[in-house]
Amino acid sequence: MSAVRNEIRFLLNDREVRLSHVGASDTLLDHLRLDQMLRGTKEGCAEGDCGACTVLVGHLTGDGLRYDTVNACIRLLPSIDLCHVVTVEHLRGSDGRLHPVQQAMVDLHGSQCGFCTPGIVMSLYALWMQNVDPSGEEVEVALQGNLCRCTGYEPIVRAALDAARRGDRALDVLTAERTDTVERLKSLNDQCRVVLKKEDETAILPVDADDLAAVLLDVEDPTIVAGSTDVGLWVTKFMRNISPAIFIGHLDDLKTVKVDDAGVTLGAGATYSDCESVIAERFPHLTEFWQRIGGWQVRNMGTVGGNIANGSPIGDTPPVLIALGTTITLRCGDTRRTLALEDFFIDYGKQDRQPCDFVESIHIPFPQDEVHCAAYKISKRKDEDISSVCAGFSISLKDGVVGEARLAFGGMAATPKRAPKAEEALRGNAWTEQTIRAAMAALAEDFSPITDWRSSAEYRAKVAANLLMRFYLETTQTGTPVKLSA
Ligand SMILES: Cc1cc2nc3c(=O)[nH]c(=O)nc-3n(C[C@H](O)[C@H](O)[C@H](O)COP(=O)(O)OP(=O)(O)OC[C@H]3O[C@@H](n4cnc5c(N)ncnc54)[C@H](O)[C@@H]3O)c2cc1C
Ligand code: FES
Ligand code: FES
Repeated sequence: MSAVRNEIRFLLNDREVRLSHVGASDTLLDHLRLDQMLRGTKEGCAEGDCGACTVLVGHLTGDGLRYDTVNACIRLLPSIDLCHVVTVEHLRGSDGRLHPVQQAMVDLHGSQCGFCTPGIVMSLYALWMQNVDPSGEEVEVALQGNLCRCTGYEPIVRAALDAARRGDRALDVLTAERTDTVERLKSLNDQCRVVLKKEDETAILPVDADDLAAVLLDVEDPTIVAGSTDVGLWVTKFMRNISPAIFIGHLDDLKTVKVDDAGVTLGAGATYSDCESVIAERFPHLTEFWQRIGGWQVRNMGTVGGNIANGSPIGDTPPVLIALGTTITLRCGDTRRTLALEDFFIDYGKQDRQPCDFVESIHIPFPQDEVHCAAYKISKRKDEDISSVCAGFSISLKDGVVGEARLAFGGMAATPKRAPKAEEALRGNAWTEQTIRAAMAALAEDFSPITDWRSSAEYRAKVAANLLMRFYLETTQTGTPVKLSA
């Protein structure tokens, strides 16, 4: 067994913090506001939606030190081990002056009541560091996870564009202290398994994937926590006891993103942001779709593995990954098994997973033939919203005739699911309006959707069929669906 440490260690702005009395469900936001008295970071929704609690979390990667914006309200405190947490208080220069991003917000009237402002400043600060010349669209993506109810976004976007021209990034506090921060973080890492106890709660941070496999064989009824963008809400909204919680978001060997001749293989712990560029390059039809999952903070935390493992019927990635023929590998101890993603989902809340299993990797194959692919998300808001219906389509065409067809939907059944009857209506038939209309009709045999507060059953059935027509029109008229070459 790995050596054990009973405390977490991290850097908070310019200070080192060590904590041993940490519960599995303690949030970073409560720690900042209640224990550290850093009240610049606000609490709005406590569910990852409004961005008032945005802070930066830096961690060491193979390439150095990377900072991401995260929602402190659903980021659980144990997961901060060996990280650098940066709050809005750290932006003040040693001379006490405002940061260039803050000054731009003042000069361009980007704040009224000011409640959202620290969170917006943190998102814009992260953008300012990463992108010296952002477009309006890039600013909007950076602000997807920040809600402002009174100022309106126009002055905020103007401030962001103006801030890009202000200040010297080389003199910025995180740049100036970078080498020192890297050394400090390295010195905190003693390669130990971390075990934390507070009252009746236990949190465990394994050292690596092998250690995770060992912990899962040992611990009864654990909750695996990756990015905590689902689990965090179980804590803040449902007061659920997640102990014993096994944290995996820090495990580098679960974060790999590999490309070879066969396809793309994602470690289950890779966040949406970790794999965004590879997904956009290799599966370009998913580029916009990917940016519509959560907001920037959620994509920096949430993992594809978590989106699959939660078994939700409305998760966005399962339908589009099923359409691409994705397989997943589950691991229990040293035993691995690989299955088609659609076979993982058995029924509502029931997946093909034993207590000792964890999702280790997700393999998205490149197609053997030329295929047409599309991914659609239907939701009430364009950004930061859960799908009413989500669809992934992939068909091969030869001489105008459909070969293989994979049509998968979310929001239409108790699990993400393929549409066998509609697929059958396509296979072997000419790619014509008549064929697509037959597939649209067959869809009624594949699904009996439900009505809930997101949409009615009738709406879901109608929109799902219409998405097939849209796919047909786009392949035959505007060419929007992307061709993936073998
Ligand atoms: C504001 C907000 C917006 C969101 N928007 C979207 C959206 O647009 N589309 C969408 O699909 N989802 C959305 N979500 C939901 C969530 O972000 C995703 O489901 C995300 O992918 C979950 O990943 P995670 O790493 O945070 O999982 P966690 O919350 O850490 O875990 C989720 C579940 O998966 C299990 N788990 C995690 N990793 C593994 C593993 N490797 N092996 C076995 N079990 C594992 C956990 O035990 C838990 O049951 C949103 C959430 C929030 C808070
Ligand atoms: S408080 Fe709203 S996202 Fe955290
Ligand atoms: S300034 Fe009031 S919510 Fe944004």
